[in-house]
Amino acid sequence: MTDHVIVTDENAARVIAMRRPDKKNALTQGMYTAMTEAITSAQSNPAIRSIVISGGSGVFTAGNDLEDFARANATGNDDARPMAASRFITALAMNEKPLIGAVDGIAVGIGTTMLFHCDYVLASTTATFSTPFIHLGLVPEAASSLLAPRTMGHQRAFAMLVMGRAVNADEAREAGFVNAVVAPGHTEVEALKVAREIAALPPEAVALSRKLLKPAREDVLRRVEEETQLFGQRLKSDEARNAFAAFFARKKKA
Ligand code: COA
Repeated sequence: MTDHVIVTDENAARVIAMRRPDKKNALTQGMYTAMTEAITSAQSNPAIRSIVISGGSGVFTAGNDLEDFARANATGNDDARPMAASRFITALAMNEKPLIGAVDGIAVGIGTTMLFHCDYVLASTTATFSTPFIHLGLVPEAASSLLAPRTMGHQRAFAMLVMGRAVNADEAREAGFVNAVVAPGHTEVEALKVAREIAALPPEAVALSRKLLKPAREDVLRRVEEETQLFGQRLKSDEARNAFAAFFARKKKA
C-alpha cells in the first residue's frame, strides 16, 4: 500500500496518478507495485477502455528512486534490480489497453522510457525528457533500446539513450513520441479528452488495430529480459555507486 499513487476510474478511463511531490514523484517499490496492479487489473475490465498515466501538475517523475538503486548497489544478489520495477515494466509490455501519457514537467529515466509503451502522449510546454542512464553508469531499460530507435530512428535514440541528452517538449514531438504540446496544467484534462475519443470507438477493432501497430510482444519481453540482466550488473558497478553517492552528496555541499 502506498499513498503516492492514486488510481481512479473516470468514465471509461483508468487514471494512474503519481503523487510524491516532495521527491519529484521518484518511484519507490511501493509505487511500482501500485501502478502494476492498476494496469494489470484493468486488463480484464471491459468498462476500462484506456489507461492514463499522469504525474499531476509540474512534474511527471524523476524516475527510479535513487535510494533504491543505491541499496541495490550494495546487495550481494545477482538479480540486483528490485523486482517491483521489473514487474511494472512487464505489465507495460503485456498491457492491451490504449495507454495515454500526460507529462507536465520533468520525465526522467523510466519516466521517459515508459512513454515508449504509450499509444498517445501529451506534454506540457515545460516538459523535459531525459534518460541519464549513462551518467549513472547504467544501460537503457523498459525495452527502450528496442522501442526508442523504432520511434525516432537510431541517431536520435543514440543521443538520448547513449549520450544522455535531454529533449524538450517540441523536440519530443518532432522525434515522434509526443503527439501534442499543451499549456502547463492541462495535460491530464487533454489526456481525458483523448480517452473519451478512444472510448467512442469500437473496442474490438481498437484492440486489434493497436496490436497490429505494436512490435511482437515476445520481442519486447526478450529485450526487457536482456536489458534487465545488464542493468542489474551495472547497478552493482563502481561507476553506478559513485554516481548515486554524488547525487546524494550534492545537497550537503550546497
Ligand atoms: N530518487 C530519490 N530522490 C530523488 C530523486 C530520485 N530519482 N529525484 C529527486 N529526488 C529528491 C531529491 O533528493 C530531493 O530530496 P530532498 O528535498 O529530501 O533533498 C527532492 O527529490 C527534490 O529534488 P531536487 O534535486 O532538490 O530538485 P531539482 O528541481 O533541483 O532537480 C531533478 C530535479 C529531477 C533534476 C534532480 O532531482 C535529479 O537529477 N534527480 C535524479 C534523477 C535520476 O537520476 N533518476 C534516475 C534515472 S534512471
